Amino acid sequence: MSYEVFARKWRPQLFKEVTGQEHITETLKNALLSDRLAHAYLFSGARGVGKTSVARIFAKALNCLQGQEGNPCNRCTSCTEITNGSSVDVQEIDGASNRGIDEIRDLRENIRYLPSHDKYRIYIIDEIHMLTLHAFNALLKTLEEPPEHVKFIFATTEPHKIPLTILSRCQRFDFKRIPIVKIEEQIKRIVKEEGIRIEDSGISIIAREAEGSLRDAESLLDQVVSFTGPNVEDNQITAVLGIIDRDLIYKTSQAVIDGDSKLCLEIIDEIYSYGYDIKAFYREIMGQFRNLIVSLISQDPSQILDLPDNELKETKRQATHAGMERLLQSLNFLINREVDLRYTNNPRIALEAILLKLSRLTEYLSFDELIKKIEAIEKRINKGMATEPNKDLEAAFSKKEYPAKETHLDDGKKWSEFLSYVTPKNRVIANVLREWKSYTIAGDTLELPCREGSFTGSFFDDPEHYEQLVTYVQDFFQSKLKVVFKKQNDPKDLKKSSGQDGLPDTVKDIVKIFEGKVVSQD
Ligand SMILES: Nc1ncnc2c1ncn2[C@@H]1O[C@H](COP(=O)(O)OP(=O)(O)OP(=O)(O)O)[C@@H](O)[C@H]1O
Ligand SMILES: [Mg+2]
Ligand SMILES: [Zn+2]
Repeated sequence: MSYEVFARKWRPQLFKEVTGQEHITETLKNALLSDRLAHAYLFSGARGVGKTSVARIFAKALNCLQGQEGNPCNRCTSCTEITNGSSVDVQEIDGASNRGIDEIRDLRENIRYLPSHDKYRIYIIDEIHMLTLHAFNALLKTLEEPPEHVKFIFATTEPHKIPLTILSRCQRFDFKRIPIVKIEEQIKRIVKEEGIRIEDSGISIIAREAEGSLRDAESLLDQVVSFTGPNVEDNQITAVLGIIDRDLIYKTSQAVIDGDSKLCLEIIDEIYSYGYDIKAFYREIMGQFRNLIVSLISQDPSQILDLPDNELKETKRQATHAGMERLLQSLNFLINREVDLRYTNNPRIALEAILLKLSRLTEYLSFDELIKKIEAIEKRINKGMATEPNKDLEAAFSKKEYPAKETHLDDGKKWSEFLSYVTPKNRVIANVLREWKSYTIAGDTLELPCREGSFTGSFFDDPEHYEQLVTYVQDFFQSKLKVVFKKQNDPKDLKKSSGQDGLPDTVKDIVKIFEGKVVSQD
């Protein structure tokens, strides 16, 4: 007998065998029992969640004469023909390869004929969103006046690509992603039946990796078993599927929280030599910090975090140790830095730079503390002044009382003074700041307009650069100003980059800031 992959072998044949879509299967069964049937159904949802399976079961149930309680019998000729794909009255059409007007015209010709021996002629059109506009229009005519003996079942992973005119003539069912526990249950059933030995923890790894698609889970199991045979070890699963060991993720977040830069580098070395995908690892780390935060906020994190018990405990422990502020800063930093990995040819180095900084984020935090202390001292001095006036101090501090809400657009003179002040201190920051020709002060805020997605704007997303800028601004303007970047599509107050034509703006920005030149362009 030829080998049949699990996904095919385990295709559900009865409504009750479809897991995680009870809201749909119950409704369909009731519709059949009460004979309240629509002409056209639309099944939408992610890949491998049961759309085609349910379409076939439903088609069988529609035509089966011996079915019970809305289920098909799966034994009569009508049922078996549908199961093995030889039915004349039930046709499955792949929308991706029959997307044109001609195919739909043929279909319209065909539906005029009565079913050969079943009750209905049923058309299951998969990937319906692939039809051309003309084909949709032709289909619409049929849907407007469908013959009694015809039923349509459309399936799609991309319902937003279907014209509204079609959508509004279908009864729509949205298939859900299947929760990890349900995937685990199904995989347990399969391995038991197939005589495969695998730990529950191994099943969890597969279920998690499937991201809500039961077919993906079954295919992953296939892959693993074809490699290991019937006895499956957890570490074989991670190796075959190239999944990053969960322990390594926890080790990384712990190293970051402990500020252990050396360990961070060692972990990256391990990741790299193991051949893991660095970007996938980065996503895992982002997910990890998100989980840490959720575990601090949520009363019952198991509700939101789809994690096994031991991981939940460890997550909570690390999170409590790190504290909310630290975690938020870290996640924010990771989100901002993700672009660094996206455009680099050397992801390892980029990752090292990011994790090193991340593990030293406390240093920025202590800077925050410092500011708070300075504020406290200021307050005390201000109080003291009321009793012992000191001319010089008073002069210095009175400048800090900026007129509230006054908007002030600089003529550019003060700004260039500011730039000359920054240049000897930090050339790169000064160069970045040269992108602006002026600024606005409103109340206690210094506002800089900023092109959406520009390099110059995102330069200051880095906490280190930003803190540095704030220090310069406060020192120079002698006022406790906040600095805010105001995102705009095309700010007038920002100089357009010029020269090096044909280069993207970001590149032009970078070349200018680092005082470099473009050597080759490909
Ligand atoms: N809800 C489910 N219950 C049980 N098995 C399922 C379910 N969803 C998927 N499967 C398994 O995955 C296989 C493929 O499912 P199916 O073809 O129904 O998915 P689909 O939603 O049509 O996917 P696609 O969008 O890729 O066409 C089935 O044969 C079955 O083994
Ligand atoms: Mg399908
Ligand atoms: Zn039957």
